[in-house]
Amino acid sequence: MTAFSTLIRTASHEQHVEAETSTFMSDLLGGRLGVEAYARYTEQLWFVYRALEESAERLAEDPVAGPFIQPELMRVPSLERDLAHLRGADWRSGLTALPATREYARRVTECALTWPGGYLAHHYTRYLGDLSGGQIIRDKAEKTWGFARKGDGVRFYVFEQIANPAAFKRGYRELLDGIRADDLEKQRIVAECKRAFALNTGVFRALGEEFPLSA
Ligand code: HEM
Repeated sequence: MTAFSTLIRTASHEQHVEAETSTFMSDLLGGRLGVEAYARYTEQLWFVYRALEESAERLAEDPVAGPFIQPELMRVPSLERDLAHLRGADWRSGLTALPATREYARRVTECALTWPGGYLAHHYTRYLGDLSGGQIIRDKAEKTWGFARKGDGVRFYVFEQIANPAAFKRGYRELLDGIRADDLEKQRIVAECKRAFALNTGVFRALGEEFPLSA
C-alpha cells in the first residue's frame, strides 16, 4: 500500500505546479516585482498563519493533528518581525486581508474547529512547503530587495529551531505515514490538501491582479 506521505505528495503534484508557476510567483521569483508586492504578500501570509497557529494549542491534544503541532514551526512571531521591517512599527494599522486571503483563513479556522484531519491538510500544505520551496523564495528575496541573509524581511522563511530541514521533513513524513485515519478519511485529507493549494493559488491570483507588470 502506498505510504500516506507519498499519496498526498503525488496527489497534489499538479496543484503544486500550478501554484509554483502562477504569474505572481513567477514574477516574484523572476525578480520582476517591487518590494511593495513582497510586503503585500507577507501581510497575506500573516492572516493565514494566524489562523493556523491560533488553533495550535487547542489541537495539540488531538490524536490526528496533535503530533504535527510543533513549536519550532510557529511562524507568526517571525512574520511580525518581517512586517515591522517592511512596513514600520505601526504595520498593523495598514494591514488588510484580500478577499481571497479571508476565504483561505476562514477555511483553515473552520477545519481547526470542526475537523482535525482537514486542519492537518492545511498544516502540511504550508509548513512542508515553507521548509522546501520557501528556501528558494528567501534566497530570491534577499537578492532582489537586499534583505540581510536570513535577517529581517525574510525571517518567515528561517526556521531557527530546525537545524536540519531535510531530517525534519523526513520525520514529518513518518508522522503522516502513521496517522490514525482510515482510507476514506485519508482521501478526504488529500482532497482538502488540493483545496489548500487552490486557496493559495487564489491569493496569488489576487496579488497578480494588484501588481501587474507595467512593462
Ligand atoms: C515558486 C514557488 C515554489 C517553489 C520554487 C517550490 C519548490 C518546492 C520544492 C523544490 C519542493 C521539493 C522539496 C523536497 O522534495 O524536499 C517543494 C515541496 C513542497 N511544496 Fe513547494 N514550491 C513553491 C511553492 C509552493 C506553494 C505555494 C505551496 C503551497 C502553499 C507549496 C507546497 C509544497 C509542499 C507541501 C511540499 C512538500 C511535498 C512533499 O514532499 O510532501 N510549494 N516545493
